[in-house]
Amino acid sequence: MDGIFITLEGPDGSGKTTALQEIVRKLPEYTEKQIFATREPGGSPIAEKIREIILDTTHTEMDARTEALLYAASRRQHLVEKVIPALEKGAIVLCDRFVDSSIAYQGFARGIGEAGIFKINEFATEGIQPDLTLFLDIPAEVGLERILTNQDSREYNRLDQEKLDFHEKVREGYLRLAAEYPERIVTINGCLSPEEVAKQCLQSIQNRFYKEL
Ligand code: TYD
Repeated sequence: MDGIFITLEGPDGSGKTTALQEIVRKLPEYTEKQIFATREPGGSPIAEKIREIILDTTHTEMDARTEALLYAASRRQHLVEKVIPALEKGAIVLCDRFVDSSIAYQGFARGIGEAGIFKINEFATEGIQPDLTLFLDIPAEVGLERILTNQDSREYNRLDQEKLDFHEKVREGYLRLAAEYPERIVTINGCLSPEEVAKQCLQSIQNRFYKEL
């Protein structure tokens, strides 16, 4: 595939969505390539429906493996309908969350383990991996505080209801992934100002793809 696949990752409240908007606004200054920003489940009706089941705040009895399988199913549908077609057209695809989220949340925080989550996602993605992952790192309590302050402007979902130690494990999972895949994952300090975070994201993209842009 001709395109470039970039994912944004981080705990809840890490500022991914704001950073993504800013990257989309600024990236055309550096490249002629088409830019396609998306988020799982990203406007694919089937994937949206799967996601509704996962995030429904009344589904408190959902089993951890059911949750992991549903995320993988939703991911598969979005990948096939949205991401792969854009990459085939040569676009830069910026995706808010991908397999690393499942490894951090379901693998580490829910305790299923990295290997199992990796396996089901390998099946779902047929091995498609991001070319670059921007990981916005923040302490769990900072992320949670941001979520609570922004509750009115942001959907508050079943995973947000988890306690601090769950969110600490999520971060721990991301840190382990960043250490495991240093070539793919760039860690950016999510406690910096939104402008600085976006600037560092853009710099990382430029550094990594200076020939392709
Ligand atoms: P999302 O709607 O992307 O929320 P946010 O704006 O915080 O990124 O994700 C909803 C929740 O789902 C979020 O708490 C992270 C969680 N999640 C997983 O647990 N596993 C996954 O594979 C994905 C993609 C998200």
